[in-house]
Amino acid sequence: MSNNLLKGKRGIIFGALNEQSIAWKVAERAHEEGAEFILTNAPIAMRMGEINALAEKTGSKIIPADATSVEDLEKLITESMEVLGGKLDFILHSIGMSVNVRKGNHYTNENYDYTVKGFDVSALSFHKLLQSAMKLDALNDWGSVVALTYIAAQRIFPDYNDMADNKSYLESIARSFGYHYGLAKKVRVNTISQSPTMTTAGSGVKGFNQFINYSELMSPLGNAKAEDCANYCIAMFSDLTRYVTMQNLYHDGGFSNTGVTQAVMDRFTEI
Ligand code: NAI
Repeated sequence: MSNNLLKGKRGIIFGALNEQSIAWKVAERAHEEGAEFILTNAPIAMRMGEINALAEKTGSKIIPADATSVEDLEKLITESMEVLGGKLDFILHSIGMSVNVRKGNHYTNENYDYTVKGFDVSALSFHKLLQSAMKLDALNDWGSVVALTYIAAQRIFPDYNDMADNKSYLESIARSFGYHYGLAKKVRVNTISQSPTMTTAGSGVKGFNQFINYSELMSPLGNAKAEDCANYCIAMFSDLTRYVTMQNLYHDGGFSNTGVTQAVMDRFTEI
């Protein structure tokens, strides 16, 4: 269903790897709502080539960029404005990766080279993106930048490992940069804290199936789906949310404010 919420708006969408990716759903919805945008991902992630189908479906151009490289980001932003024919109105940062998680290193036994790499990809890339956009004066007034995060930034979820620290830093950047970008250019910066979702990044977390089932029972509305997360991103890119900035916004079916649910209590009656 389209309400032309993003008609006339231009953007960049990071992180569509395959059909499960949250960014993929955002691109589909942004297209339905009338936006024009560039799709981008790390050059290595494009070897699978799945993103080509999304580009075709949404009439978008793909510009590869490693989000840890300021040079790549500046090139991406400059070329995006050229291709789309003007300054941008929205950017989605949907990027996350922990090498320690991938290699199975416990949180108390990190390889710090891996930690730094994961931090650069998952958190610092957001600052690099915002700083590059600001220097190039790439965003229109009331533009909106959204990054995706997880509640492990606030509470311990043991197997989320060093990604928890990365997400805390990511959310802090949204607050700090949101202040400066708001004052300078009326640009809004927020993070959306999403329910666990079955994607490539999500399923890399140990015990993810148990995790997702627990979260489902602990959320009065159930886990929020990727498609619904995409809808929330569209709302955040639209003019209907112009005064929302520097926030971490929970999109989690109520999980973040739930102490316990009856469904979880019922599992303990036999003990
Ligand atoms: P995904 O695996 O589909 O997306 C992660 C993306 O990051 C991939 O497209 C990958 O190629 C990209 N990426 C990795 N390194 C990069 C680099 N150097 N430069 C540019 N792009 C790079 O998984 P998903 O779940 O859609 O993840 C998107 C975001 O949502 C991530 O920030 C993730 O932490 C967040 N999130 C995911 C949840 C889940 O349970 N799946 C829950 C809450 C937040």
